Amino acid sequence: MRHTPVLLNEVIENLNLKKGAKVIDCTLGDGGHSEAILEHIGLRGKLLGLDADPESILRAKRFLYRFEDQIVFARENFSNLENIAKENDFVSVDAILFDLGWSSPQFAERSRGFSFDKDEPLNMRYDNRCQVFGSENCVDASLIINEYSLEDLIWIFKNYGEEELSREIAEEILSERKIKRIATSRELTEVILKVYRKKLRTDKEIPWIGGIHPATKVFQALRIAVNNELEILKNTLPLAFELLNKGGRLAVISFHSLEDRIVKQFFQSLPYAKSKIITKKPISASEEEIKINPRARSAKLRVIEKI
Ligand SMILES: C[S@@+](CC[C@H](N)C(=O)[O-])C[C@H]1O[C@@H](n2cnc3c(N)ncnc32)[C@H](O)[C@@H]1O
Repeated sequence: MRHTPVLLNEVIENLNLKKGAKVIDCTLGDGGHSEAILEHIGLRGKLLGLDADPESILRAKRFLYRFEDQIVFARENFSNLENIAKENDFVSVDAILFDLGWSSPQFAERSRGFSFDKDEPLNMRYDNRCQVFGSENCVDASLIINEYSLEDLIWIFKNYGEEELSREIAEEILSERKIKRIATSRELTEVILKVYRKKLRTDKEIPWIGGIHPATKVFQALRIAVNNELEILKNTLPLAFELLNKGGRLAVISFHSLEDRIVKQFFQSLPYAKSKIITKKPISASEEEIKINPRARSAKLRVIEKI
């Protein structure tokens, strides 16, 4: 299954792409956005595609093979954007895209514990750092859940997940892990469900809250903490803006309010004389797109131009 790119037409329209443009896709994934970008920039156009996940790079190479002479693939975290752009002569570009988060195949097929529906080891890293460096040098979701202090767990669930039962869930994790390590996504989900069942005084197997699974926020918080997502985004957006030519555009698709807030605040922090916000309000997916691709429901696209 190939990942379905969200807000594809909206991204293409708002990037204002010209033939021969130079573009950076910071989150290549399965290359859906890159493919459409390459179609728009023609044979003289060039694209630098980054992804921290080695499997995403391999997949994108297959999906984009017909453009291979125009693409530079980089298996890199976008926190290294400045260096990668310099090394590959992408220091003045016409468009940059961030489509944040994970791709559907990463979620469904890679056994990294991203999903509370599955019984997989608690990893949640986008890259394969743990395989490469060994587990002592690697922060993964299992290390956070099994080793971090009560206060640190509460902080992560509250700040990265906006989870209302942060303290109760953290306390339950500490009491479970005295008995045995919480090793899989299913075991962690069970701990969270136990807390929610107690709080809501129900014996329902899954006490859904307004259509949302009770484990959603803790899983989001862990993924953000493991990959240091918010800090990296905050630090990389200014570097990306610097790389744009005058008239160049930066587009960011985010999937939750914490990311969107960072993008919005960064755009607003830029001086009027240097930038023009193209999306006064973030662009959301149409009902038709959401019907075909439910993941698009929470997507928000913001675009800014360097002037
Ligand atoms: C939503 S997917 C992108 C999908 C892509 N636009 C497409 O059309 O197929 C996000 C991708 O960004 C990658 N990613 C997330 N954070 C990253 C980071 N800090 N640096 C590099 N890649 C990252 C993930 O591994 C994933 O492949």
